[in-house]
Amino acid sequence: MNVRITGTGSALPGKILTNAELEQLIDTTDEWITTRTGIKERRIAADGEYTSTFAAEAARRALAMAGIQPEELDLIILGTVTPDFPFPSTACIVQDLLGATNATAFDLSAACSGFIFGLSIAEKYIRTGAARKVLVIGAEILSRIVDWEDRNTCVLFGDGAGAVILEGSEGDHSLLSTHTFSNGEYWNLLYQQGSGSRNPATDSRTLDERRIYLAMAGNDVFKHAVRGMEEAAVKALDANGLTSSDISLMIPHQANRRIIDATAKRLGVDSDRVFVNLHHYGNTSSASIPIALDEANRQGTLKPANKILLVAFGGGFTYGSALIDW
Ligand code: ACO
Repeated sequence: MNVRITGTGSALPGKILTNAELEQLIDTTDEWITTRTGIKERRIAADGEYTSTFAAEAARRALAMAGIQPEELDLIILGTVTPDFPFPSTACIVQDLLGATNATAFDLSAACSGFIFGLSIAEKYIRTGAARKVLVIGAEILSRIVDWEDRNTCVLFGDGAGAVILEGSEGDHSLLSTHTFSNGEYWNLLYQQGSGSRNPATDSRTLDERRIYLAMAGNDVFKHAVRGMEEAAVKALDANGLTSSDISLMIPHQANRRIIDATAKRLGVDSDRVFVNLHHYGNTSSASIPIALDEANRQGTLKPANKILLVAFGGGFTYGSALIDW
């Protein structure tokens, strides 16, 4: 049984926070952010908007494109590091919002690689016959875990969600492979220190010592990200007997323009075959690849039989790739 993407969708907050506005909030400049990251603006969720809000809206758009009803879904996998609550899973909340009454639903924690890890699990469910129609979502509201007093991190992130519908298919155009990797040795280079069992939100020091926020060793993450994305991409190409010249479009995790450029250069993929939208949205973690995939799809960039390479890297460290024959 092959696995085909039959629908894509995305949803973003309406509020745009520009670099110029950030200049008013913290000691930074548009010039620094643009040259170091490529980011010009990001979307920020409003009061009353939650991770499930955008996840469900992205899912509705993907369902509409696939032409299937929520009740037909067998499985919902939601990658996030910013769930509505520690429990229950945001996937269960999305199940309720959609009315996907026949689906098993769970969240997946693989940081910025969450969507690729989700695709990989969905692929196996479908190939083994355990599910026929699967919804995979990447959704985040990172603006609620970044430290808005830390200029090293707060300029990098944004909010949003992307989703795909995967279905079993006998046809050729399908998900060719997924590869996932983890390297827990570096778990503390990028993490949210507070709100779990080590620094509970109930301990006043968690807030007082600013442990509640996302913390990152930016330079180290940068180097590992380039190496990890290259390794994952090469694995995908080798597994399918392809070279980088066969790739029509690479959609990398949208963390930093320099990480994307360095990865593409190492792989030999020219910039006109690399999808970039991080100037609009910043790093939306697990949501970045499905948002980009949906944009490329709706723009008509993806043509039948195109080879599309998705590649991600994130906290954990986690990294991975997916190769699609569109
Ligand atoms: N505005 C102005 N100056 C700043 C800002 C800011 N927003 N942030 C940091 N600086 C200053 C620093 O204080 C430092 O000043 P100093 O030299 O006086 O100490 C100087 O800029 C250089 O800082 P560096 O950290 O060396 O800058 P670098 O070129 O490494 O860029 C960055 C930092 C953008 C975070 C980069 O390391 C990076 O992109 N790392 C990857 C991390 C990433 O993308 N993480 C996202 C999640 S993981 C993932 O998705 C891959």
